[in-house]
Amino acid sequence: MTTTFTFYGHAAIGIETHGYTLVVDPYFSHNPQASIPADQVSADYILVTHGHGDHLGDTVAIAQRTGATVISIAEIASWAGRQGLKSHAQHIGGGFHYPFGYLKLTNALHGSSLPDGSNGGNPCGFLLTTLDGQKLYLAGDTGLFGDMSLIGEEGIDLAALPIGDNFTMGPADALRAVKLLHPRLVVPIHYNTFEHIKQDAFAWAQQVEAETPTRVKVLQPGQSLTFE
Ligand code: NI
Ligand code: MN
Repeated sequence: MTTTFTFYGHAAIGIETHGYTLVVDPYFSHNPQASIPADQVSADYILVTHGHGDHLGDTVAIAQRTGATVISIAEIASWAGRQGLKSHAQHIGGGFHYPFGYLKLTNALHGSSLPDGSNGGNPCGFLLTTLDGQKLYLAGDTGLFGDMSLIGEEGIDLAALPIGDNFTMGPADALRAVKLLHPRLVVPIHYNTFEHIKQDAFAWAQQVEAETPTRVKVLQPGQSLTFE
C-alpha cells in the first residue's frame, strides 16, 4: 500500500500508512511555516521527539480533539497522561508493534525540557518500519553522531534530517549524516523557520546528490511524497 509523507513546515510531519494517520512533532499554532491550522490536523497517533515548544506544539489540543494516542519517551508520555491524554511510553532502543507498523526510538543529541518546565527525559528520533517494510527515519532535533551508521544498517528508504544549524545539525554535518545513514531519499527539515536557522536547502540538495547516491526531496510546507 501507499505510504504518504507530508511536510507541514519546520519539523511537523504527517504520515499516512495503511489507513492510519500519524503526526510527528505537531507544531502548528505558533509555527510561521505551518501549512494548515492545528484544528484541521487529523491524527490517530501523535509522535513527539522531545519536549521543546516547536515540537510538542499543539499535541494537547490535537489529542483532545481527535482522541489520538501520544507516543513518546517515557517522561513525555507520562506528562501527556497527566494532561488526560492517551499515551504510550517507550524508550531509546525500544520498539513496539503498533497497528500502523513497528516504531523504534533512536538516540538524539539535544535537550528536552517541556514548556511548563517539566523534565522531558532524553530527546529521541523515530525509526518507523511500515507494514510493507518501508523504513522511515525521523531524526528529531539532533547533532551528528557516529551511531547513525547503525541506524543506516537497517536500510533507510526515507530520512528526515534537520539542516538548520544553531540548534541541530547544520548542512555540513547533515551531509555527513547522509553518508552514515545512506538513505534512498532524504528530506531536509528544521530550517528557515527562524532567523538563526536560515539555510539554502536546494544548495544542500545539490551537494548531497553530488557526493552521495541519495536523492534529496526539498518539500515546501504542505507538500507530500508517496512510497509504494
Ligand atoms: Ni528542540
Ligand atoms: Mn527544534
